[in-house]
Amino acid sequence: MSGGNLDYGGQRANMEHDTMRGTLAAQANVVWPKEREILRRRHGARMGRVLDLACGTGEILRRVREDFRPRLAAGLDLFRGHLLLSGRPVVQGDGYRAPFRDGSFDLVLVRHVLQALPDPVPLLREARRLLAPGGRAHLLVEDYAAILFDVDDYGTADHFREVAPRFRARGTDLYQGRRIVRHLREAGFKGIEVEPLLVDNLSADREELAKVFHWWCEGYAATLAEVSGRSEAEIRRRFAAMIDNVRDPGRYAAWLLLVVDAAP
Ligand SMILES: C[S@@+](CC[C@H](N)C(=O)[O-])C[C@H]1O[C@@H](n2cnc3c(N)ncnc32)[C@H](O)[C@@H]1O
Repeated sequence: MSGGNLDYGGQRANMEHDTMRGTLAAQANVVWPKEREILRRRHGARMGRVLDLACGTGEILRRVREDFRPRLAAGLDLFRGHLLLSGRPVVQGDGYRAPFRDGSFDLVLVRHVLQALPDPVPLLREARRLLAPGGRAHLLVEDYAAILFDVDDYGTADHFREVAPRFRARGTDLYQGRRIVRHLREAGFKGIEVEPLLVDNLSADREELAKVFHWWCEGYAATLAEVSGRSEAEIRRRFAAMIDNVRDPGRYAAWLLLVVDAAP
């Protein structure tokens, strides 16, 4: 397991790419305003001990500290390069074998990560092990079929659906959203609630949402070309069309994420 895991299911170069910083910042800018309200409603205004499992550059840890003043907000990530940007306390380590005692946290966050793992279940099992009695996991899960563009060109409109089976063949699954209940149950979670978090070009900052696709393009264009067998120029053309769509308020564009609240 650990070999595939340490390779991030074949997405290592993308996960550790310089552009990840821009990606995580842009994603947080469009997602956090709605996610913060969901967290407040579900977990209250003051948090206890929080762990961000696979915390990346710490974009969310910073926001959690500012908005919820938790007793502790710790992070763990495989990649030291991201952690250097994170702010303490953070730990370099593998989320499949997190170096913390059972029951150390009241809330474990797992955001934007399952799609990059060869098998999400062992990481979810770790999340569960780390929860104190009464604790809960908060997940933000992607499903790449739930990204909508109002473009006439089906190459662009269905781009992520086209590449999903190719990623699957290489070991990662872009359809985590629809599988999350099954995976959480397999990891031993019992109380599972799912709610949608819609980021669209009517309600989000359009330029920030455009940046998400800009950074995805910069970080993934070469991989997407290799995976799909299409030229990198074609992949870049598709992302440019997505970005035009996002910037045009007369044509709808949306990214639907799932927020999952899970109790052991
Ligand atoms: C797309 S980023 C998301 C970061 C952060 N959760 C956020 O929402 O901003 C995915 C992160 O997962 C990390 N990662 C992937 N596999 C991991 C593993 N097995 N253990 C710990 N971190 C891992 C990567 O290094 C990367 O920083």
